[in-house]
Amino acid sequence: MNFKKPRGTEDLFGNKVNEYVAISTIIRDVMSKYNFDEIMTPVFESTDLFKRGVGDTTDIVQKEMYVFEDRKNRSMALRPEGTAPVIRAVVENKLAQPENLPLKLFYIGKYYRYERPQIGRNREFNQCGVEVFGKKSPEADSEIITLAISLLRNMGFQTNDLSVELNYLISGVSKTKYVSELKNSLKKIKDLCDDCSSRIETNVLRVLDCKVDQDKLKNVPTMNDFMSEDDKTWLNSLVKILGLIDISVNLNPRLVRGLDYYTGMVFEIKSTDKTLASQSTLCGGGRYDNLLKQLGGPDISGLGFGMGIERILLDLEAKKIQLASEKALDAYIVGLTPKAKQFSTMLLMMLRSEGLIADFDYQDRNMKSVFKQSERLNSKNVIIIGESELKENVVVIKNQQTKKETKVSYGDIIKTIRGN
Ligand code: HAM
Repeated sequence: MNFKKPRGTEDLFGNKVNEYVAISTIIRDVMSKYNFDEIMTPVFESTDLFKRGVGDTTDIVQKEMYVFEDRKNRSMALRPEGTAPVIRAVVENKLAQPENLPLKLFYIGKYYRYERPQIGRNREFNQCGVEVFGKKSPEADSEIITLAISLLRNMGFQTNDLSVELNYLISGVSKTKYVSELKNSLKKIKDLCDDCSSRIETNVLRVLDCKVDQDKLKNVPTMNDFMSEDDKTWLNSLVKILGLIDISVNLNPRLVRGLDYYTGMVFEIKSTDKTLASQSTLCGGGRYDNLLKQLGGPDISGLGFGMGIERILLDLEAKKIQLASEKALDAYIVGLTPKAKQFSTMLLMMLRSEGLIADFDYQDRNMKSVFKQSERLNSKNVIIIGESELKENVVVIKNQQTKKETKVSYGDIIKTIRGN
């Protein structure tokens, strides 16, 4: 019987693994410059955490979670996103003590959503995200957006490869008024899709970003018309700060995001490249000032974003940008006799302890195949040791670039390899 990987998952090997390692290195490097600390949480949590955290009526909770019962019949879910688990960890470990604020955390890990797989949309995917607690100002909002752009620029994106969409989700009385007007206006539209029809009652704001009904929604009221003066001041000031650091944004009053916890600023960064088609959103996030309290923690504001690593790598691949440098060996050793093989093992250890990247031909290949193999491994040198070399206390080093072979005494091996 042949087993196949589950739909929507990926096996990573060869250079793809190197690209993942390289992108993680860039993320950790940029995060440390922004003074963020890494946090790692379990890949499964209690299902209730996501119901309460992400929202019972969201697609993520209703249709996309991998839910299972553990052996004690507790309902568990593979994490579909990172914010709720990080908040659970912050509350449980009392990380948001006043002296730790603002608390700035980031994560890189695997997430799970039962979605229809397509390019840039997987059932198991990698996300890098950040969560910041205890910073409530437009400046804090701008720092998060700047960090997201800075990450993408460090990965190789140029300014015109990216478009930033921004909105401000109203709350309190303004939201109540808006929701009621929006519902009235939507009820007058005929033939809304099934999702929108049911969302009018369950999660009406999500109707705004329905991909199917966009044309029918042209005349529904927008959130902007219901913003309070304070909301307007916040948004204007955020746009102004971003302008000062040369980040231009498109204000999109229809941007509502698929998770229920947002309050205030929300944003998405999309790739302008057509490769990813409908999966062009590389990053999404925003402010969630009530969530920490809602999940049993102190009344502290929060904000953050998540970034899809697969989407970024696909986009970079289309742009022919490689993050990982080509794998290369300093030396590939071949021992031609049993004694030479023993000596090769010692030499291999010595080279590696000097920090050189070296390997040994275990396959007893003939010389032609040895050279082919060393080319495949991108080795700068081939070290050949036979009976006569052992007698003379030398090795033969072939510089694979110049194709020049030299006899080298033991004491000069490292120097020669490094020089080639
Ligand atoms: P999200 O918009 O659901 O937000 O996901 C963030 C990013 O993860 C998306 O923009 C996309 O790049 C990537 N992504 C999501 N689903 C998939 C998938 N099925 N396959 C591949 N990539 C995917 C969140 O998850 C929030 N927790 C972000 C956040 C953090 N907001 C505040 N803090």
